[in-house]
Amino acid sequence: MTTAVQHYLDKGLRGLWYPVLASWEVQSAPVGITRLGEQIVVWRNQDGQVQALEDRCPHRGARLSMGWNLGDRIACWYHGVEVAGDGEVKSVPAVDRCPLVGQQCVRSYQVQEAHGAIFLWFGVTAEHQPDALSFPQELADSESYSHFLCTAAWQCNYQYALENVMDPMHGTYLHSSSHSMAEGDRQAEMVLQPTQTGFIFEKKGQSGVNFDWVELGISGACWMRLSIPYKKRFGPGGHFWIVGMVVPEDNDRCRVFFWRIRRVQGWQRDLWRFIYRNRLEKLHWEVLEQDRVVLENLAPEAREHEYLYQHDVGLSRLRRMMQKAAKEQLAQREAQQGAA
Ligand code: FES
Ligand SMILES: [Fe+2]
Repeated sequence: MTTAVQHYLDKGLRGLWYPVLASWEVQSAPVGITRLGEQIVVWRNQDGQVQALEDRCPHRGARLSMGWNLGDRIACWYHGVEVAGDGEVKSVPAVDRCPLVGQQCVRSYQVQEAHGAIFLWFGVTAEHQPDALSFPQELADSESYSHFLCTAAWQCNYQYALENVMDPMHGTYLHSSSHSMAEGDRQAEMVLQPTQTGFIFEKKGQSGVNFDWVELGISGACWMRLSIPYKKRFGPGGHFWIVGMVVPEDNDRCRVFFWRIRRVQGWQRDLWRFIYRNRLEKLHWEVLEQDRVVLENLAPEAREHEYLYQHDVGLSRLRRMMQKAAKEQLAQREAQQGAA
């Protein structure tokens, strides 16, 4: 049975920044996307800044994403109404002195572009002001670290994609043929350690062998971090780092974002970027495909009929954290509706 809290959670936990698209996916032409069940239009204005609005023309509800970019605003394809990035109607060309002009009638989203991705703020309520957004060191310190962002659409609820990363033991099995994850114990005891922003879930007594630990943190956005030891022949930079985020599209779809990172500077950075593009990227896609295929083919309502064991402590903790947050958010939204 799905509770109201779980139902809310399935759409997407709020009070977070989410990456919605990679930077390279948005140029001047408006792009229509669905995130957290909301239809959103995203484009770049004449200064290259990303703008995001509810994808709904205030006139008759046509998709603004089907319209035109006019530099400081977009125009609806249907009857030409022009809307600025803050949601204000700038012009109704078909009518003289239309009262719609000057009205703020399309919802706008707060946007930040960072580390090759576009982040939007999804508040718990419409008034909820954005939290500060900060990133794990391996992204934030771009002097020392260098990354590639890879993103893919998966046909599963976002919680499964999150839980998959919070489950390091699957690496030894699902990815046993991979170049970097074939080693390490196939049996282990797993332990949880709290951190400032979340927790670390790790194999007891084994670190630096394989995908041995994973961290979950919330610092404006919800992120996961892990490192995989790399053999010397995979080039300079020591451990390979991954920072992952997941954004819900709707109940049955999500978008994953993985930044693949190494600590490299100067010529080592050039070498690593060359090796990655020419050798490693393909291997990484294969690993990611293994995850996607398993998750997209989980039994229907898989979560309702599980027998969890000790290795699933990480995902159980994550579920409890999310349930608790969802419960608070639902209460906040209900209180606001009651007051309205
Ligand atoms: S529906 Fe957009 S201008 Fe009419
Ligand atoms: Fe995996």
